[in-house]
Amino acid sequence: MPDDQHSRHGFSTRMSHAGRAGVRIHGFVNPAVHRGSTVLHPDCAARRDGAAKRFDQHMTYGTQGGPTHYALEDTIAEIEGGSRCTIVGTGLAAVVVPLLAYLKAGDHCLMPDNVYGPARNIASTMMVGWGIETTFYDPTVDEAAMAALIRPNTKVVYTESPGSHTFELQDIPAIARAAHARGAKVLMDNTWGIHNFQPFRHGVDVSIQALTKYVGGHSDILLGSVTVNSDEDHRAVRAASSTMGHYASPDDCWLALRGVRTMALRLRAQEAAAIEIAQWLERQPQVKQVLHPALPSHPQHALFKRDFTGACSLFGIVLDPRYGQEDMFRFVDSLTLFGIGASWGGFESLALPTTGFITRTAGTGEFGGQTVRIHIGLEDVEDLRADLAQGLRALG
Ligand SMILES: Cc1ncc(COP(=O)(O)O)c(C=O)c1O
Repeated sequence: MPDDQHSRHGFSTRMSHAGRAGVRIHGFVNPAVHRGSTVLHPDCAARRDGAAKRFDQHMTYGTQGGPTHYALEDTIAEIEGGSRCTIVGTGLAAVVVPLLAYLKAGDHCLMPDNVYGPARNIASTMMVGWGIETTFYDPTVDEAAMAALIRPNTKVVYTESPGSHTFELQDIPAIARAAHARGAKVLMDNTWGIHNFQPFRHGVDVSIQALTKYVGGHSDILLGSVTVNSDEDHRAVRAASSTMGHYASPDDCWLALRGVRTMALRLRAQEAAAIEIAQWLERQPQVKQVLHPALPSHPQHALFKRDFTGACSLFGIVLDPRYGQEDMFRFVDSLTLFGIGASWGGFESLALPTTGFITRTAGTGEFGGQTVRIHIGLEDVEDLRADLAQGLRALG
């Protein structure tokens, strides 16, 4: 499909057509898996020209990626509305690569208090050793509060909206205005929003996705992407990624491209099922609160309505305060259709205790009850609801 047609089509149409190789592979619908380290050049001049273009999807050696990577890169850039994308081996690598692309010794970084745990971990451990200081901030800050947090040496304002455990939404345009006025880059983990939040329309410079989740969709691969919307940012991210030796398996890229073809359908079904179940959970006496940005009861629902075109199927619940942690474990253990495990975005439903497993240092994250994260998969809604009902009854 020619580029100028993309914006005129719906998400499902674009996910069917993006990243196809077309006539380049004799008309086969899907790109091939190109595995390889060595790339041969016809002569020395061709090798020299290739080296000069190494940030431009030009194959000089396997670590620069190949046609399967590039098909996925173009597809993810299309999903997020960015100009260029870099694929790396995990979602966590996609978090770390841009942090290290923009931060050096003596710099300051801002991270939301509800940030994905391993992102907090690198900021609190290795980055400290490298002389980079991080302040964890209340994710719900407004523009003035963000402006007050930014120091002359703040180079990165990291965001994640909603936070993937407790689902606070951030006012990304306001945060971006404050950051850009003071020369800081805005990085965002947009895994929850996927295509429902268009990061570059809201002031984000670098968008991170754990493709492991809905893009993969089948809980069988790990992959990450870093998407940008300027050549300058692309060069910075690409240089950091290749300097650190990041790479992703072309087989996994191929599986991610396969996942993309059905993602719109899966997301639509999972989003609807999750909202139905979240609304039902809100009516249960054992549940104090449901943490789902698409519900009117969510504290930042107005931001969801303003900035998002839809939701995914990951949300949280807060149990009534009369239940303690052992009760919460009993509830999760009693579920038969919800696996107990990390990750999300696959075809299977999951439940994960969060109280006691998340670190906060900025005084946020008090919900007045035990919290559980719920991921809704592709099972029948009636079956999932019945399972949750028997689990809640087990609480007494
Ligand atoms: C919000 C978020 N970002 C990033 C990641 C990291 O992805 P991966 O598991 O592919 O390293 C995860 C994984 O759970 C996540 O939930």
